[in-house]
Amino acid sequence: MGKERLLITGGNPLEGEVRVSGGKNTSVAVIPAVLLSDEVCTIENIPDIEDVHVLADILRSLGAKVDYVPGVHMVIDPRKADGYQVDYRRARQLRASYYFLGALLGRCGKAEVAYPGGCKIGSRPIDQHLKGFAALGAEAEERGGLITANAKQLTGNDIFFDMVTVGGTINVMLAAAKANGTTIIYNAAKEPHIVDLANFLNSMGARIKGAGTDIIRIRGQQHLHGTTYAVIPDQIETGTLMIATAATRGDVTIHGCIPTHMEALTAKLLEMGVRVTDSDDSIRVRFQSAYRAVNVKTQVYPGFPTDLQQPMCALLTTAHGTSIVQETIFEQRFRHLDELARMGAQVRVMDRTAIIEGVGQLYGAPVTTTDLRAGAALLVAGLMAQGITEIYELEYIDRGYEHIEDKLRSLGADIRRETFF
Ligand code: EPZ
Repeated sequence: MGKERLLITGGNPLEGEVRVSGGKNTSVAVIPAVLLSDEVCTIENIPDIEDVHVLADILRSLGAKVDYVPGVHMVIDPRKADGYQVDYRRARQLRASYYFLGALLGRCGKAEVAYPGGCKIGSRPIDQHLKGFAALGAEAEERGGLITANAKQLTGNDIFFDMVTVGGTINVMLAAAKANGTTIIYNAAKEPHIVDLANFLNSMGARIKGAGTDIIRIRGQQHLHGTTYAVIPDQIETGTLMIATAATRGDVTIHGCIPTHMEALTAKLLEMGVRVTDSDDSIRVRFQSAYRAVNVKTQVYPGFPTDLQQPMCALLTTAHGTSIVQETIFEQRFRHLDELARMGAQVRVMDRTAIIEGVGQLYGAPVTTTDLRAGAALLVAGLMAQGITEIYELEYIDRGYEHIEDKLRSLGADIRRETFF
């Protein structure tokens, strides 16, 4: 079996209309959450990406019935799910496998999940997740690559996170949804997919208020019923397409997105001199004049998303002037810069700050993806470079972007996937 690579001949401006897919980071939280239901749940707008298939496989290994029709819906029947273990082979494939801890704790009071995988962008400890479970009365520990959590009865409590954590907020919401009494999460994450998960759980009969603010109140319910729910569009795919359009000096309208989720990126693109116009469910991005260098500092939502830092660096490599990019969320999220340098970018990294000197042009080269959003950065760079770029290690991109080369090709990109031996 050969491996796959993407071949991009850069220089074509992206033009036309494209529809964004359902959100990866919301789907990977909503799919495990179905274990909290006593009935069948139907989820719509789930993207056809590798992470979704791995989660469906984990649900089946726990005894749930999963019928996934890409582009239509995922129907999950959790009624016969009696497993509580997620093995290393499955858990290591993605970060979100650790959401089965909160979901299984809420469902049956016990969980054994191998330590999760996911992008190598820092140490990514889970101490806050374990602190949250313990506050709810669970015995939770991590030993030898296995996380175990047990609770005779989960009891609502107040939890104050030491730092804003998306995963920690999601995991505690899952465990608290059926706990006895009320849980209040302080210093909660406010990302759109936190709100989407809360809305999903509330559609099952949960009582969650305050999602999207830094204080979330969860009144535990004994039973949660089935539901039919459509997840929100992917904020990061929307942003990646916006950046790719600007980088290729194109003119693209992105449909099916939520412009208010994109405000931090939109503001930065406008500051650079990119033309961005919103309507209620679409965003149009157009080139209008040479781009100015800007400074970017990643922050928790609604600040500039860390997941867009990497493709944004690719765009900044040819802006006029020097851009300063500060990555405040993860400690090792600049590995894409080495690959961009191979394409002619002038970049320097000092701890969590990248200094990018604008150059006239990037040049195609063979490059390797090191993590999901680094892959997005290389896609953007390949689209804007002169000549041919070969992108290797595609499994990262396939984890998080649904049919991305089809979308880009439909906008005029010269991109194709080929098998090599
Ligand atoms: C989620 O990761 C996303 N992954 C990431 O997207 C995203 O970059 C990140 O949130 C921030 O928005 C999924 O949703 C599957 P965190 P997560 O817990 O939950 C530290 C992508 O490309 N921390 O908010 O792991 C942690 O080390 C991926 O789609 C602790 O110290 O992020 C990090 O420095 C990459 N202890 C910071 O907090 C903890 O217990 C934020 O992490 C938890 C987190």
